[in-house]
Amino acid sequence: MSEKRRIVVTSALPYANGDIHLGHLVEYIQTDFWVRFQKMRGNECVYVCADDTHGTPVMIRARAEGITPEELIARSHALHLKDFTDFEVAFDNYYTTNSPENKMFSEQFFAAMEKSGAVTVRKSPQLYCEKCKMFLPDRFVKGSCPKCGAENQYGDSCDKCGSTYAAEELGSPVCTTCGATPVVKESEHLYFELEPFKDYLRAWLPEHTTSDVSNKLLEWFDEPLRGWCISRDAPYFGFEIPGRPGKFFYVWVDAPIGYRASLANWCAKNGQDINAWWPGPDAQERVPPTELYHFIGKDIIRFHCLFWPGMLHVAGVKTPNKVFVHGFLTVNGEKMSKSKGTFVNARTYLDHLPAAALRYYYACKLSGTTDDMDLNLTDFVQRVNSDLVGKITNLASRGAQMLNKPALGGTLGTLDDEGRKLVELAQSRAEAIAAHYEARRFSQVPVEVAKIADAANEYFDRRQPWLTIKTDAETTRVTLTAILNVFRILAIYLKPILPAYAEKAAALFGEKAWAWSDAAKTLEGQTIGKYEYLATRIDAKQVEAMVEAAKVKPASSGEVAHESRASKNKQKPNVVEAGSSPLKEEIAFPDFEKLDLRVGTVLSCETVPKSSKLLKFELDAGALGKRTIFSGIRGAYPDPAVLVGKEVVFVANLAPRKMSVGVSEGMILFAGEPGVSGGILSPFASAGAGTPCT
Ligand code: MSP
Ligand code: ZN
Repeated sequence: MSEKRRIVVTSALPYANGDIHLGHLVEYIQTDFWVRFQKMRGNECVYVCADDTHGTPVMIRARAEGITPEELIARSHALHLKDFTDFEVAFDNYYTTNSPENKMFSEQFFAAMEKSGAVTVRKSPQLYCEKCKMFLPDRFVKGSCPKCGAENQYGDSCDKCGSTYAAEELGSPVCTTCGATPVVKESEHLYFELEPFKDYLRAWLPEHTTSDVSNKLLEWFDEPLRGWCISRDAPYFGFEIPGRPGKFFYVWVDAPIGYRASLANWCAKNGQDINAWWPGPDAQERVPPTELYHFIGKDIIRFHCLFWPGMLHVAGVKTPNKVFVHGFLTVNGEKMSKSKGTFVNARTYLDHLPAAALRYYYACKLSGTTDDMDLNLTDFVQRVNSDLVGKITNLASRGAQMLNKPALGGTLGTLDDEGRKLVELAQSRAEAIAAHYEARRFSQVPVEVAKIADAANEYFDRRQPWLTIKTDAETTRVTLTAILNVFRILAIYLKPILPAYAEKAAALFGEKAWAWSDAAKTLEGQTIGKYEYLATRIDAKQVEAMVEAAKVKPASSGEVAHESRASKNKQKPNVVEAGSSPLKEEIAFPDFEKLDLRVGTVLSCETVPKSSKLLKFELDAGALGKRTIFSGIRGAYPDPAVLVGKEVVFVANLAPRKMSVGVSEGMILFAGEPGVSGGILSPFASAGAGTPCT
C-alpha cells in the first residue's frame, strides 16, 4: 500500500490560435502553485497540459498566413511553452491535441459513446457560405439576435440578452470571413445525448464542483437535456470520425481527451502505466485511489461538468475528483482592453517586469472562488514593493549582508530564547499555511507570511544589529541567526508561489530543493553563502511602459513620404502614397469588425459635371439593393466605362454622406499603385493608377 497521494492535475488547454495573456495566466499560475505545493508535501503529482489545436479558427488563420495548420500549431506550441516556462509554470508534460495518442483515445471514447446508444444522427439545417465553401461555425457568423433583436451577435449566444440559439435562427446573418450572406443547408450530424445520463449528472455535479457552479448547471435539468452536436463538416482541422467520411470530431470532443493523451504521453516517457495514474475501464484498484483535478475558467464549465463527465462515464474512465473553477481577470477594475493597454500578452509583461512579481500578486488575490479577480496596477506595484521586497526580502538582504561582514564571517550562531520564540512562531504556522494551499486559498499565504515577517522586522529594529555590530559581534550574531532562520522558513512557505526565489534563498543556506518539512528545521552554527538578489523593487514606470507597449498604437514606419508627393497631397490627408506612407494608428480587431465590407458589381460609372476628381458609381449590392457611391478616383480612370461590370469591395455600413453632387451611400476601396507591395487600400486613389480591389 502506498502512503503518498497520487495526483493528476490539469489546466485548460489554451487555444493554439492565440497568444498567452495575463488572463490565461490566472489559471496556469494558480494551478502551478497547487502542483508545486503537492510536490513539496511529498505527494506524487503530475501536471499535464497541451495546446488545443483543432477547429476552424486555426484552419482559417493558417490559411490567411499561407501556412499549414501543422506549421501554425508548431509555432504556437513553442511560443506558449516559452511563455509558461518564463512565468515559472512547470508542466510535467506540455503536449498537443494533434497527437496520435489523442486520435486513438478520441476513437475509443467515441466507440464507447456509440456503444452506449447515446450517439444519435440528426439532420439539421446549418448555415453554409457559398463563397468560403464551408459550413459556418457559430463564431463565424453574425446577425441579429432572434430573441431580443440586438445587432451583430454571434451564432451561438447573444451578448445583450444572454439567450442561446442556433446560428440559423439569427436575423440577416453574414459570414464573418467574407461578408457574404450564408444559405441554409441540411447536414447530417452526430449528437451525444445527455438525457440518458441526467440522473447520473444530477448526482455527480454537486459532489465535484462548488455549489455556485453546480446550481447554475442544474438550472437546465428541469427540462430534457439538449443533445450535444459532436461532429463538424469538412473542411475542418481535426480528427475525422471513423466510419463517417467528411465528418470530424468537434474540437471540444477531443480537447478534454487531450488531458488524458498528454498524461499517456508522459507515462510513455517515464515508464508508467496510465491506468495507475488515471484509471480506465480495465484498471486495477489502487490504495489510496488516484486523484484527478481540472483547473478551469468559469466560461467552460458546461464542457467540463456536463459533457466531459458524461463521456468519461460511458467510457468507464475515472471522472475528476473536483473541477476547480476560477473567475475572470479584470485590470484596474475593467475588462481587459486593447486600446487601454490592459490586454497584456505574457511576453509583453515579461519584456518589462519580473514574472515573480505577477505570481506574488496573483497569490495575494486568489481565494479559490469563482469571483473575478482584479489586477490593479497601482496596488500591484505597491504590494510587491512593500510586502515582498520591503517586508520579506529585506530580512534576507539586511540579515545576510550583515552576517557576511568580516566581524561575523558569515557564520550563524545559536538562538537565544527570544530568537527561538520567533522561529517557533514561524514554524507553528506550517500546517495552517499548508491548509490554505490545499484549499487554494492562496491569498492567505502572503497574509500569514507578512504577519510573521512583521514580527521579525520588529525584533530586528528593537535589537538594532546595525549598532551592536560595532560593539558586540556575538549578540549581533544571535540576532541575525533568528532573522535568517525566520526568513528561511518564510521562503519555504512561499516556494510554491516563488520557486526561483526560493531556489536562490535555499542556495544562500547551502540547501537544495526544499520540501515542506524543511520548515521544521533550525539552522545554527553553519556558514551561509553570499547574498544574491532575490527580488528588487518594481517601478511604476515599468508598468507604464508595459501598458504603452500593450496599447494598440501607431507603428512608426521610419519612412518619410517623398517631399513633392507629400506636399501635393497636403490638403487631402486620406490620400497616401504607396510604399512610403506612414502606417495609420493600429486598430484592434473589434474596430475592424465594425466595418461591414461587401462586394458589389459596378452597374454604371460616370464622370460628375464640374468635378475633376469624382466618379459616380451605381453598384449592384446584392441583397442590399442598389447603391450610389461617389469616389474621388477620376484621376486614375480617364475612361470610367472600363469599370463597368467589375466587382469592387465597399464599406456598406458607412453613414450616408451628403455631398454637393448627391448622397454617397458607402465607400469603395481601391488599391493605390498596383504592383507596388505595401500599396495601400484607400477609399480614394492616389494620383497613380487605382485598381478596384476585390
Ligand atoms: N481551448 C479551450 C479549453 C479546452 S480544455 C479541454 C479554451 N482555451 S482558452 O485559451 O480560451 O482558455 C484557456 C483557459 O484560460 C480557460 O480555462 C479560460 O477560462 C482561461 N482564461 C482565458 N481568459 C481568461 C481571463 N481573462 N481570465 C481568467 N481566465 C481566463 O477555453
Ligand atoms: Zn464566407
